[in-house]
Amino acid sequence: MAQRIFYLTTPIYYVNARPHLGHACTTIMADAMCRYRRLAGDQVYFLTGTDEHGDKIAQAAAKAGVTPQAYADEIAAAFKDTWRRLDITNDDFIRTTEPRHKKVVQAILQALHDAGEIYFGEYGGNYCFGCERFYTDKEVVDGKCPDHQTPLTFIKEKNYFFRMSKYQDWLIKHLEDNPGFIQPERYRNEVLGFLREPLQDLSISRPKARLQWGIPLPFDDQYVTYVWFDALINYYSAVSDPKNPKTRGLWEHVEHLIGKDILKPHGVYWPTMLKAAGIPLYRRLNVHGYWSLGGGKMSKSIGNVVEAFQLTDKYGHDAFRYFLLREMNFGLDATFSEEAFVGRLNADLANDLGNLVSRATTLIEKCGSVERISGPVTAEDSVVHVSATETRRAVEAAMQEFAFQKALAALWEFVGALNRYVDASAPWELAKDPAKRGRLERVLCTLADALGYLGIMLDPFLPNAAKRIREALGFVDPPRLDDAVVGRLGHVPRVRKLAALFPRIEDKVTDDARAGAAVPGQPSGGKISIEDFAKVELTVAEVVAAEKVEKSKRLLKLTVKVGEDTRTLVAGVAEQYDPAALIGRKVVIVANLQPATLMGIESNGMVLAATHGGTVSLLTLDKDVPSGSKVK
Ligand code: MSP
Repeated sequence: MAQRIFYLTTPIYYVNARPHLGHACTTIMADAMCRYRRLAGDQVYFLTGTDEHGDKIAQAAAKAGVTPQAYADEIAAAFKDTWRRLDITNDDFIRTTEPRHKKVVQAILQALHDAGEIYFGEYGGNYCFGCERFYTDKEVVDGKCPDHQTPLTFIKEKNYFFRMSKYQDWLIKHLEDNPGFIQPERYRNEVLGFLREPLQDLSISRPKARLQWGIPLPFDDQYVTYVWFDALINYYSAVSDPKNPKTRGLWEHVEHLIGKDILKPHGVYWPTMLKAAGIPLYRRLNVHGYWSLGGGKMSKSIGNVVEAFQLTDKYGHDAFRYFLLREMNFGLDATFSEEAFVGRLNADLANDLGNLVSRATTLIEKCGSVERISGPVTAEDSVVHVSATETRRAVEAAMQEFAFQKALAALWEFVGALNRYVDASAPWELAKDPAKRGRLERVLCTLADALGYLGIMLDPFLPNAAKRIREALGFVDPPRLDDAVVGRLGHVPRVRKLAALFPRIEDKVTDDARAGAAVPGQPSGGKISIEDFAKVELTVAEVVAAEKVEKSKRLLKLTVKVGEDTRTLVAGVAEQYDPAALIGRKVVIVANLQPATLMGIESNGMVLAATHGGTVSLLTLDKDVPSGSKVK
């Protein structure tokens, strides 16, 4: 099949603010989509950049006591640096102060002027300096800007206007004929809603007497270009150098990704500008919702989007990326809180994925590679194969519409199915019986196959973790979506154990009051810091089954419930406790120990007991609390 071309852009961010959670959200979504399309074998071009002209920037620079250019240089560098740190795979970074951009803006302005699409006129209206635009009476709320909630200024001045009104009917028809032009549908409807009111012509200039920081109009040096008219053109100017072979033929395939705050310029100004300039329209406008900052215990310290963004360094880029992609339903708003973030990290990444990878790689490493597997494929294995195929289909469908949350939900259903497969096939039990060797090999082969699949499928969403999974399996070639198939592997490969893909985060570690109480990892005269202690996760567990470990005098195999979770532990208390008497008892366990195998049984945690001489006394509870309760 011929390679498909995919050109995706993010908004170009204003340089009056440092990169924050909101910018990171859009850029990470765009990056996940581009990585996915590359995985699928498409020819991808990914553009981001900075929007550097206009009042906002001029004012911010004046406040900082530097020139607008110096100011823009500094913040643009901060954006570039941030994207580098987050492993964003953009192919280009455009700045609107670059000559390559200015040239194209001026050429388009001149052509539109020559064609009579731009005229000189006078307009008086309520202006918001924050939005850099006029508001109509209908849009004004209590005399204020609906976005900034700040008073508007009445300005009357002579300006150049683009005949946008002329394109109103054409745009309505285009939206009606092309339902997928703006998605999700609610935003297409919103744009159709704007278009129910008469569309005004667009003022595309600002007098130099009022603002100098902009691209001069090629046909009147007393004016600079209105910042939106300048900024939107970046998507085109970045790929329109005929001498650059890398960007040839891209324009016809462009899709934009934006937040809902800038729907009107992208859904109304931009298509009409393109139409008037005779440039093909973009393929699709993809619009996501807005993050707000939520309350909650841990998040009380997060005052703003910049602080929220700092959590990416605290908890890791993959985890941050996962949270943003998983928690927001594409097109709708979402709430960010540190608590919700840590909750997802622990449940989805440390528990579901991390444990699966740790269990599977531990078992496979122990078994060693097997060239020819004696055990046949059973119904249980086939379920895994089919579920992998269905999951891939679900991911493909979700990614068609930027529904990252759906793609990840489907993948996590598969992870859940694999965890259940491990529990049901209990390879550690199979390993005990030489007669079951064939089955053991088959189970481990299925697991290795499924891990390889995850190492590919997770790549757009968790690039670092996916890479580590692939490395543990010895994959060297770049991942390809076509290879994400389970059921083809006929051997057990050599695998390196991958124990701590995502370490659990404990509440205690993130508790504001304790953070900074001691420097983690600093020994102080044989004493440990509270941070070190906080690494040990002590939890109440309820014994639901207990049996003696065969051929061992000392060991009991316990099945315990920890909240919703069930796990197996091995405890050295067989000489003191009768297994039947333990059932229903609540004990205290270390829940985050790396798994250890004792007499062929994988123990996931340790039961606490006091010892004195030959006496072993299990720690129990003074009052009844549910299993899963923390001990601290
Ligand atoms: N410079 C214009 C865009 C010009 S594009 C031709 C601009 N810049 S901005 O710096 O304000 O960035 C706005 C974009 O940042 C939003 O559209 C969205 O992509 C992202 N976000 C900023 N805050 C956000 C949230 N709180 N939540 C989600 N995304 C947000 O507008």
